[in-house]
Amino acid sequence: MSIDQMEAVAQAMVAPGKGIIAIDESSGTIKKRFDAVGVPDSEEHRRAYREMLLTAPGLAEHISGAILYDETIRQSTKAGVPFTQVMKDAGIIPGIKVDLGAKPLAGFPGELVTEGLDGLRARLNEYVELGAEFAKWRAVITIGDDMPSSTCIDSNTHALARYAALCQEAGLVPMVEPEVLMDGDHDIGTCYEVTEATLRSLFAALYEHNVMLEGTILKASMVLSGKDCPEQADTAEVAESTILCLKSAVPAVLPGIVFLSGGQSDADATAHLNEMNRLGPHPWPLSFSYGRAMQQAALHLWAQDLEGNFAAAQKIVVERARDNGLAALGQWKKVA
Ligand code: 13P
Repeated sequence: MSIDQMEAVAQAMVAPGKGIIAIDESSGTIKKRFDAVGVPDSEEHRRAYREMLLTAPGLAEHISGAILYDETIRQSTKAGVPFTQVMKDAGIIPGIKVDLGAKPLAGFPGELVTEGLDGLRARLNEYVELGAEFAKWRAVITIGDDMPSSTCIDSNTHALARYAALCQEAGLVPMVEPEVLMDGDHDIGTCYEVTEATLRSLFAALYEHNVMLEGTILKASMVLSGKDCPEQADTAEVAESTILCLKSAVPAVLPGIVFLSGGQSDADATAHLNEMNRLGPHPWPLSFSYGRAMQQAALHLWAQDLEGNFAAAQKIVVERARDNGLAALGQWKKVA
């Protein structure tokens, strides 16, 4: 893919009123999600679940792309059509998670660094052959006593920059995801500081590594109060803090920013995105790349009757896509 094509893909990912569905749960994470709703974790169940999501009628109206896992990008519908083909026919851009997970950072107890750079060039080339047009790499930043260390932030952003450069070499749009976790009892101001420091380190690293920002998408966490903080910031404060933080650290040339949901409720994830867009216009489109906040309601229903609730679960995921698509325009209205 040429530079112009990568720019076009990046812009299509954040087209007005559209966002991304993240269905790239690793083997361990999907097992956790299935365990929680009583679905046995088998390859066939994982395939059937992803088929339910990807073939939901009307999904493409508000979904520009979907992030797949290594197993999923090789799978097909029950009728034998490769998922990537189903997606392209529907106008949904295939993406692929390429990191190999966050592992303990040696010398820094409690902190994590994401692995997966060794052999990445060859894996990216294979994913291009399989039909991927963008990739995702997630770094995890934990807030706690004396955490995060600058070593943790810089190790993770260095890896993100090396990944992003390799993606663009292979013709894939890199989605760079430095997730600041909402776990902990820190206040929203602490989340702001950590997020700002992380984003500044990230964009410095991307610059050092000659990554073309015009063909890059940022997947950001929102600036929130820690999950266990006694004082929870309201929607307006989350929206204002997140926008201010992004404006202070993210170059305007970036084609778009999408958010992860990170454990927020469906309602919060949608309301926060909507409020941010109501405060616009901003230098970049702000949209979603939600995993849990797109899927959890549909997963619960599907789990109760895998075949009988297939179509009803699809309707729910399309409703979530519509709500979040409207929130990406600042046009979502809460139903009382
Ligand atoms: P959540 O929206 O569930 O946080 O997942 C998004 C994602 O892809 C994290 O990497």
